[in-house]
Parts: sequence; C-alpha cells; structure tokens
Amino acid sequence: MDIIICPSPNDVATKAAEILAEHAGGRMGLATGSTPLLTYKELIRMHEEGLSFAECEAFLLDEYVGLAPSHPQSYAATIRNEFTNHIDIDDARVHSPQGDSGDPHAAARAYEELLASTEVDIQLLGIGADGHIGFNEPGTSLNSRTHAVTLHPQTIADNARFFDSADQVPIHAITQGLGTISRAKRLLLLATGQNKAKAVAEMIEGGLSAFCPASVLQAHQDATVIIDDEAASLLAYADYYRFADANRP
Ligand code: GLP
Repeated sequence: MDIIICPSPNDVATKAAEILAEHAGGRMGLATGSTPLLTYKELIRMHEEGLSFAECEAFLLDEYVGLAPSHPQSYAATIRNEFTNHIDIDDARVHSPQGDSGDPHAAARAYEELLASTEVDIQLLGIGADGHIGFNEPGTSLNSRTHAVTLHPQTIADNARFFDSADQVPIHAITQGLGTISRAKRLLLLATGQNKAKAVAEMIEGGLSAFCPASVLQAHQDATVIIDDEAASLLAYADYYRFADANRP
C-alpha cells in the first residue's frame, strides 16, 4: 500500500486529482460521499483548463435500492450533479447499478456482468466510519461480487444528512463486491477527518479481515491511500509513512 499523508483535505484533493487526471481518457471507477467532492471540484477546474474526459468511461460503486436515477439522492443523480455534468463525458458512458429495477439481485448480476466485460483502470474509494467501502459492510466476503446488501444502521444514520430524515434512507443497496473492486488495476482511497481515523488505522495496520472491508486494499497490488493528518492520527507508523513518502526509492 502506498500511504500519502497530507496536511489538509485540500491537499488530499489536489494529490488525488493529479493521479486521476492521468486516467481522464480511461475507465474510471467513481465514488459518492462527501470525501471525494473536493477532488471532483479540482478535476472540474482541470477540465476548464483543458483536461478532456471525452474518452472516459465511468463506473459507480453502488446505488440505493428503490431510488430511480432521477431521484435527487440516488447516487446516479449525485455523481452527475457533483461531477460528470460539469465535464465533457457523454452521459451514456456513466454507469451504475439499477436501483429501481424491482429485482435488486438481477440488477446486481447485470452490473457485475458489465464490469466483468471491462477493466477499470483506477477505482476511487471513500471509507465509512466502520471500514466499509462501496456499501460492503463488515462481514462481507473479501472476494464478493456485486450484490444487494442491507445497510448497517450506523451507515443509514451517517447518510441521513443527505435526506430529509433518517427514515427516508433506503435500508438496501446494490454494491460492487470487494472482489469486484479489487479487479480494478489501481485503487485510490481517500479519507479525511478525525471520524475516519479508527477505520483508517484498522484498514492499514489491522489484519486483513472481512470485519474491516477496506483492509482488502492490503491484498491489492497497486493501492494508494491518501489521507489528511486527522485521519492519520491513530496510525502507529505515521512517521514512517511520511518519511517513506518524502524519500521514495
Ligand atoms: C457511503 C458510500 C461510500 C462512502 C461512504 C463515506 O456509505 N457508499 O462509498 O465512502 O459513504 O462517505 P463520506 O465520504 O461522506 O464520509
């Protein structure tokens, strides 16, 4: 794992955008949540300065069950509002699981098939406070494929801020599995803020375990983690990671 610790969330975004920009013409896995927003802003700024995404194909990690793409809180709508509507990617090239098909298991299989027919060059990831990535909650098989899940009450509570009230948050979602995510050639996980420090420490310095789904990055051949000082605050080896980043071989 390549661990980069930055002073602030803005620095995390600048570094992440720099890496993602190298893949603007490739197949990019996108993530929702508030953490990547500054990165998307930076990529939009780079687009305004000439970076083209016209050849890009984008794949979302997950979607709520029951929400149509037109629903403002669906991840399909969110990624468009926050990122892809502001760059030159054709909307038909932005893919996500179909949350409102009526059969989440069939929708999960269809999305897995789509992903199996391509190779994602770089997958952007956030991390939940309980160590989840995508919507793979603790206990998810490290080799899982795209599947329908029941969200943890904490995840529902965490995501309630995007809805009018907690009871509007769907309790089910369709997510790329940990095995699906791991097929991407490169993984790029971002985390900022004190409330992610415990999950970040478990992901990097805990065991490889389904109990911390993000620990699957430990088994990937090209995983980069970019975090701010607060998210790094519980890492036992933080000083070493800073030293190694400043003195690359
Ligand atoms: C949701 C998403 C994840 C995201 C997580 C953290 O559960 N499914 O992909 O990483 O939230 O979100 P945030 O960045 O807002 O803390």
